[in-house]
Amino acid sequence: MNLTQDDLKRIAAYKAVDFVRSGMVLGLGTGSTARHAVDRIGELLRQGKLSDIVGIPTSKKTQEQALSLGIPLSDLDAHPVIDLSIDGADEVDPRLNLVKGRGGSLLREKMIEGASKKFVVIVDESKMVKHIGGSGMALPVEVVPFCWKFTAEKLREVMEGYGGCEAKLRLGGEKGKAFVTDNGNYIVDMYLEKDMGDLWAVSDAILRLPGVVEHGMFLDMASTVIIAGELGVKIKNK
Ligand code: A5P
Repeated sequence: MNLTQDDLKRIAAYKAVDFVRSGMVLGLGTGSTARHAVDRIGELLRQGKLSDIVGIPTSKKTQEQALSLGIPLSDLDAHPVIDLSIDGADEVDPRLNLVKGRGGSLLREKMIEGASKKFVVIVDESKMVKHIGGSGMALPVEVVPFCWKFTAEKLREVMEGYGGCEAKLRLGGEKGKAFVTDNGNYIVDMYLEKDMGDLWAVSDAILRLPGVVEHGMFLDMASTVIIAGELGVKIKNK
């Protein structure tokens, strides 16, 4: 059977929705994989197979999608404890540490998924890596727009102690301007030169920098990762 990458994303997403029960407060992820999970939840609600669900969206985009599907929504202020969050990831290592945020929603994702009793990550097999940040792809950092160049330079300096990186402002906003997150911030993408080593030390060092809001390493947060591949679905639990 020849499955596309999008088929694999949908398979992982549907499998995760099997964990959803009526009455749950759900963190709704962002991205092309999580989109399938949100669609499926909407479908099951419509069919009456799920009821009494409250969704907490991790981005404005997911909020719009969920509203269009009639999923009742709320926020972390009203629901500080979430039963289950389902979201994609850009990279997953063997310990289930993640890189997220290439779609730009890392801050809300981290707040909501960090407040979840169970966090189920859904990926196709291309997202599995030996070391997060080692694939030559970006490790996103959300920064305040004020003097972002200063912050990007500080990030570069800090990362010299962890294998080095190139730090680039993410573009993609209107007229080629900076990409702006749902929180009105910018993203600096760090392109790492080597494996970072101690991820917790890197996390602490980045978060200590004034100007940094959050980074896209989700360490020790995932409870379960569902990996869809050509040969079937694998489920890894923490
Ligand atoms: C959004 O900011 C991200 O964290 C996404 O969850 C992540 O990039 C995975 O997206 P895809 O499912 O589109 O690959």
